[in-house]
Parts: sequence; structure tokens; C-alpha cells
Amino acid sequence: MKFSSWSAAVTASLLSLSSGALAAAIEKSKGPTATQNFELTKEMLEISVFGGQTIHAPQVVNSGFVTTTGRGPRALAKAYAKFGVEISPELLLILEEILEALGITVPGTTGTGSTSGTGGTNANQTTSASQGMVAAVPQLFDTEYLAQVSIGTPPQTLMLDFDTGSSDLWVFSTETPKTQENGQTLYNIAASSTAKQLEGATWSITYGDGSSSSGDVYLDTVSIGGVTVTNQAVESARKVSSSFTNDTASSGLLGLAMNSINQVQPTPQKTFFSNALDNLAMPLFTANLKKEEAGNYNFGFIDTTEFEGSISFINANTTQGFWQFESAGFAVGNSSTTTITSVPHQAIADTGTTLLMLPTAIVEAYYAQVQSAQLSQEFGGYVFNCNEDLPNLTLAIGSYNAVVPGGLINFAPADDISPTGSSTICFGGLQASSGLPFAIYGDVFLKSQFVVFHGGNAQLGFAPKPTTS
Ligand SMILES: *[C@@H]1O[C@H](CO)[C@@H](O)[C@H](O)[C@H]1NC(C)=O
Ligand SMILES: *[C@@H]1O[C@H](CO)[C@@H](O)[C@H](O)[C@H]1NC(C)=O
Ligand SMILES: *[C@@H]1O[C@H](CO)[C@@H](O)[C@H](O)[C@H]1NC(C)=O
Ligand SMILES: *[C@@H]1O[C@H](CO)[C@@H](O)[C@H](O)[C@H]1NC(C)=O
Ligand SMILES: *[C@@H]1O[C@H](CO)[C@@H](O)[C@H](O)[C@H]1NC(C)=O
Repeated sequence: MKFSSWSAAVTASLLSLSSGALAAAIEKSKGPTATQNFELTKEMLEISVFGGQTIHAPQVVNSGFVTTTGRGPRALAKAYAKFGVEISPELLLILEEILEALGITVPGTTGTGSTSGTGGTNANQTTSASQGMVAAVPQLFDTEYLAQVSIGTPPQTLMLDFDTGSSDLWVFSTETPKTQENGQTLYNIAASSTAKQLEGATWSITYGDGSSSSGDVYLDTVSIGGVTVTNQAVESARKVSSSFTNDTASSGLLGLAMNSINQVQPTPQKTFFSNALDNLAMPLFTANLKKEEAGNYNFGFIDTTEFEGSISFINANTTQGFWQFESAGFAVGNSSTTTITSVPHQAIADTGTTLLMLPTAIVEAYYAQVQSAQLSQEFGGYVFNCNEDLPNLTLAIGSYNAVVPGGLINFAPADDISPTGSSTICFGGLQASSGLPFAIYGDVFLKSQFVVFHGGNAQLGFAPKPTTS
């Protein structure tokens, strides 16, 4: 497993830089013309990291930060303390501003760059900052990505579907009726010495595809890639719908959206990410899904080897409980001559949805460029000849143009679903979102990007990465 930590790398390199020059650069960038958007200067960005890479800028970062005083510098200090680095108060403040400018703001950091002076005094107070990486393993045709989660004491390992579009962590368990199981690994409640029932709590959830599950709730220790939360709400299934029963590889879901849409009654419970947030080196997780191979989720750090160029941040609107953002429009085809057609729409970044579901106008415009494409009643969506090369699709997210390679939109064979089958008709990875409250940027889109889910300041970051399509 590689361990390429953003915070460690930045710290190490900053220690060899003149803090005076950096401070000057930051001051300059905060000049009278600076408004809500924060343009990063080159000096601030040329921070060399381990392996000789360079962290480049997000194009524009919006400084809509959460402002509670005090905790920011301490949380940052935790991150650096982990690596045994002594940090002066001055350097700590500069680090904080750089991270803030990069959209890597820790919770409670004062957003305007004002210096409260509490900076380094707590730098050696704690070393509990943590980070973890876990593999995201695709199932056949990338319909879902499963990752290893340890639950209980001693740890029981379950493969769960990480879902940024919901907020419940639920599992098949020893309480799930035998008739609804099909070889899934079960959470054995009695075998965990740290499991305790959350008295009176129940849950029931129905997902966008009509599948559902329900049950009761335990609190137990949960670890992902070394990041541990004690007393995490683990929702035990007493009932699951048939599509969950049929999905033998997945033992449940791990929701990574906002706490506000958690379905536990009478008291909604926090997500694993929310509980882990304060102890993470950086208050974020990243998704790096890949086509037909294992990608990964990281918690608490950004691995600069996982993307190319820069990360562009956009504010997420979390009022509906999702990682929701606005997309401005699209372009089809040759990226060297891209002109964005304006079709503003609300969207969510959702690892738990397989396809990319966009407004009908975009979907029609895209398939108009695919000669063999047709909207098929039989297959319930757009299909096309498997041999036809598909054009790229560019989606405008703020000032960032995300390119989805055509190869990712060739989703799966439609008429012969055996992996070695000789299908001639293929089902589109891009389909219409008509009937949904927003567009869903699901796995087909996410496979084309490195995505940062920033819980500290509710932002999403997108960066290009090498893809095989
Ligand atoms: C940090 O460590 C120094 C020296 O080891 C000590 O003097 C200081 O009190 C410590 N500060 C805190 C906040 O623990
Ligand atoms: C689950 O599998 C059974 C048996 O193969 C099938 O009848 C049923 O339609 C499947 N359910 C779903 C939701 O796919
Ligand atoms: C966020 O979304 C809600 C619900 O869709 C909407 O009412 C609100 O205006 C949005 N806020 C912003 C800042 O876009
Ligand atoms: C893409 O653009 C380049 C240069 O503008 C042009 O040479 C090439 O033919 C275009 N390719 C397609 C597929 O449109
Ligand atoms: C499609 O996008 C890839 C980058 O993902 C780029 O290398 C390629 O040139 C693009 N193809 C066209 C026809 O624009």
C-alpha cells in the first residue's frame, strides 16, 4: 500500500522554504481586488512534494468557510504532530492559509485568513490525527464498488458498498432472516464484545432504485483502512429487499452523505465520516474509482499521485443532505475545440449510483453524435452498437471542464450479459435523469475523475486522472 500523504509532503517541503516569501505571496493575493474567489499565486503553489511532483492550484477556490474559532489551528497541528514535525506558530499560520487557499480547510478555521494568534501553542498537544486508505473493488461491469470495513471486537471484515448518496451504515447480520441471505458475510453481533444495542432505535430506508432494508441499531467499533470510530451506529438488517439478497458480494452499505438524511428513528445517527472528521489529518475523503479494476477511497489525506494537474473546488450545497453542486453545461466531442453549451443543472456526486444521469437535453445532444444510438424501450434506455467509438463528454463544473472519455460511456453489453459473451448491442453509461430531482453524477462520471469530498468546508474537488478509456 502506498502512503503518500499530502500533509506530510507539504510540511516537509515547507520546512525548507522561506516562510517570509510565502507570507508575502499570501498577503499579495489578499489585495483589495480579492473578493469572494481566492486566486492562488504561483509562489503559493510551487510546493514540491515527495517524489518531485508539484501540487498545482485549483483554478479558483471559493472561500465559503465554516467559522468557529479555535479548533482550526489545533486540528492542523494534530496533522503535523503525527509526522513528528515541530512547527513554529508563524509557520503554522502560513500552512493554515495555504491549506485554506487550496480548499483543504480544517473545521473551525477562520475563513478570512485573519490570524487569531492561537496558532502553534497547542502543536504538541495531541498526535491522534489519522488517515486511511481502502481499496474500492468493482463488481461485474462496475455496477458497484465494494470496500473492506472492520466492525466489532475482534474485528469482523465485511465488504460494503460506499455510497456518497445516502447516510446509513447498514449490514447483513445474525438478525437478518436466513431466507433473505445468500452467502453474504454477516455481522455477528454476539461475537463482538464492543457491540451494544441502541435501545429503541430502528431504521428503514428505500433507495432510488426501489430497493429497501430495515432493522435495529447497534453501536460498535468501526475501522476503515486504519481509521477507527468507536460507538459508530451500525444498522443491523432485519429485512432486505430481493436485490440486496441477490447481491451476494455486498454485505451492506456505508453512507457518506450528510447526517441530515440518516434514517435512524427516533434519533438520527452520524455517518462514519462525520464521526471520524475531527480525528482525520484533513477533514475529507477522496474517491478514485476505476474502470474494471480496483480503485480506492482515502480518508484524511489527498494522494497527489492519484490525479494530474490541479484540483478544482466548488461549493457543495448540502441542504438536501447530498453532495450537491451546480453544473453549467456540456460539450460533446473534440476537447481541443470545446465550447460549453449552457444547460445549468443541479447534480449530486454519488458513488452509490452506477450510471451518469443527466438532463434529457444533454443526453439527446450526446447520442445525436453517436450514429448507431437509439432510445430502446426493450432495454430501457439508450443503446448503441458495441463497436462504435463514442465521443468524449465534457461537463462544466464551475470553471472546471471535466472530460468523461467516450470509452466510459460504453457501459455494458445489453443483449448478452455474460462477461465473455459476444454482445453487439451495448447499454449507455449516460442516461436521462428525467423524473429525478437532480442529475446524478454516478460511477460512470466518477471513474473519469479524482474527487475530493471535503467535509470541513462542504466543498467538492475534481481533478483529471489517467483513465484506461
Ligand atoms: C509543548 O512542548 C514544549 C516542550 O516540549 C512544552 O514546553 C510546552 O508546554 C508544550 N505545549 C503544550 C501545549 O503541551
Ligand atoms: C433476485 O433473484 C430472483 C431469482 O433469480 C429473481 O426472481 C428476482 O427478480 C431478483 N430480484 C431483483 C430485484 O433483481
Ligand atoms: C441549496 O439547495 C436548496 C434546495 O435545492 C435551495 O433551496 C438553495 O437555494 C440552495 N442554496 C444555494 C446557495 O444554492
Ligand atoms: C479535433 O480537433 C483537431 C484540431 O482542432 C482536428 O485536427 C481533429 O480532426 C478533431 N477531431 C475530431 C474527432 O473532431
Ligand atoms: C478525449 O479525452 C481524452 C482525455 O480524457 C483526450 O486525450 C482525447 O484526445 C479526447 N478525444 C477527443 C476526440 O477529444
